[in-house]
Amino acid sequence: MRPVVSAFHHKPTGSWTYVVMDAVTHAAVVIDPVLDYDSRSGRTGTASADQVVAHCRAAGADVLWILETHAHADHLSAAQHLHTSLGGRVAIGRGVLQVQQAFKRIFGLGADFAADGTDFDRLLADDERLSLGQQELHVIAVPGHTNDSVAYLIGDALFVGDTIFMPDSGTARCDFPGGDAAELYRSVQRLYQLPPQTRVYVCHDYCPDGREPRCESSIAEQRAANVHLRDGVSEDAFVQMRRARDATLDVPNLLIPAVQVNIRAGRLPPADADGVSYLRVPLNVLGRPL
Ligand SMILES: [Fe+2]
Repeated sequence: MRPVVSAFHHKPTGSWTYVVMDAVTHAAVVIDPVLDYDSRSGRTGTASADQVVAHCRAAGADVLWILETHAHADHLSAAQHLHTSLGGRVAIGRGVLQVQQAFKRIFGLGADFAADGTDFDRLLADDERLSLGQQELHVIAVPGHTNDSVAYLIGDALFVGDTIFMPDSGTARCDFPGGDAAELYRSVQRLYQLPPQTRVYVCHDYCPDGREPRCESSIAEQRAANVHLRDGVSEDAFVQMRRARDATLDVPNLLIPAVQVNIRAGRLPPADADGVSYLRVPLNVLGRPL
């Protein structure tokens, strides 16, 4: 059973959004929608997300779920805009509880942020199954990049979130709160047990060496050619490589705004008395000393 997969590349953040639809019933999910954000002005926008909305309307998609593969640190989620425009319930992996609690501390958030998962309509557990018309959606917990990382298997299409990227780009970093390279290794090995022809859709593509953005590979291609984690790479070697590489990486450009919105399921923080929503910046907490 091959669901229909439509992919949307968000150039400013290198993110991929997917609409996955059962061809018979038109039951559909949207995975990882992106809200535009200009960090210079602090303005959000929906032009990119509205392309996804228009596609869903034109295809007659019956959007049942808006799914996050994790609380992203590199782009703001448009989940609430999609929910308002198309319906569908917003869901994420159950590990978001740990992510919410960690970032509640880091951003010094107050009692108005419960960090109990209730911002989301549903928290998904490992191995949970949702029905999607004639398709079944299988939730596979893939912690390592973050506690809440999940992959979604729909028919023969696997949405891997931030675990592996395209084979020429390797794997996701593991240095965020709750990240663990050994755990990522084991999560990826679990995905690699899926049938070799399984279509693999990545969460990001940063277009190395200026090539065109790509989103699709297969389990066989990843096992043969992933530059960080192909068949034959040991857990120890992977963990050493990942730790060394992570030590050189900067904090993502949009981590501070993105996380504060995404742990609230894509809602802006509650407005102050003046009606304006504000973000918080913890000084000298994140990243390495200058
Ligand atoms: Fe991520």
